[in-house]
Amino acid sequence: MARKLNESSAVIVGGTSGIGFASAKILLQSGLQKLTICARDVTKGRNALSKLAAEFPGAYLHFVQCDASDPGRTETAITHAELAMGRIDVLVSTGGGGLIPRPLHDMKLQELMPTITSLMSSILHPIHAVYPVMTKQRCGSIICLTSDVSIIPTFGSTAVGAATAGISMFCRSLAVEAKQHCIRVNCVSPSVVRGTPLYDKLQRDPFAASLISKVEQNAHLGVIRPDEVAEAINFLAGPGSAKITGQIISVSGGGTPI
Ligand SMILES: NC(=O)c1ccc[n+]([C@@H]2O[C@H](COP(=O)([O-])OP(=O)(O)OC[C@H]3O[C@@H](n4cnc5c(N)ncnc54)[C@H](OP(=O)(O)O)[C@@H]3O)[C@@H](O)[C@H]2O)c1
Repeated sequence: MARKLNESSAVIVGGTSGIGFASAKILLQSGLQKLTICARDVTKGRNALSKLAAEFPGAYLHFVQCDASDPGRTETAITHAELAMGRIDVLVSTGGGGLIPRPLHDMKLQELMPTITSLMSSILHPIHAVYPVMTKQRCGSIICLTSDVSIIPTFGSTAVGAATAGISMFCRSLAVEAKQHCIRVNCVSPSVVRGTPLYDKLQRDPFAASLISKVEQNAHLGVIRPDEVAEAINFLAGPGSAKITGQIISVSGGGTPI
């Protein structure tokens, strides 16, 4: 059964900036009582935690350093989070990313699989690590970040498209297995999200910037901000989506072909 957010504990991997940090704020605004955020950089983690603590003084907040591309460290981080909070009802897996789109002829053969693996592993490891915790509880909502390049073929996105398509199908397949344990698994799929460190990094690359500009020109509903992606995450975390699993919600402002 889906728990109310004010009775839930959540882990956000990648919760120190961008979409993950915006999700932390919206979940706490919706009443979430206990939250663990995970990421690699401890200074960024402390800063994020102190901003959240100032805004939500009543919430239990915790930071665990973790490189989610490493399976052992991810398992340890999830164990710490469970011990600290008592349970994990919601996982938002949004760590990783940061890849610059490239046409295949500009990639070395040796770069191809590490690129795909680095993106997939940091999103998928936390899911695998949290699954036994949620299975034991017979309750949980897993929300995973993918990208619209997983469904729309895009120039320069062979590797990112392959990785994110893999993430989406992993989640849809897991949803079929997980429902017997009352666990829901869904994805949120943005196109271009303005106002994140990743967006700024992409803007500094001329090829990526030209792709972004095309997507933004088509986003007639407006270019997406992190809090707008976080609203979809918040919906999938709470009881309002209790019967929804195996779905991918695209948040694109119309920038991606529909
Ligand atoms: N922004 C966009 O336009 C956009 C569009 C489509 C999809 N997405 C996807 O959305 C997700 C989040 O994007 P964002 O824009 O919010 O990125 P962001 O602002 O760069 O934030 C990424 C977060 O993940 C953490 N992180 C990165 N690698 C990690 C790792 N290996 N292990 C643990 N934590 C890690 C970062 O902290 P540390 O660096 O300290 O670890 C940070 O907290 C990514 O998967 C991205 O591919 C973003």
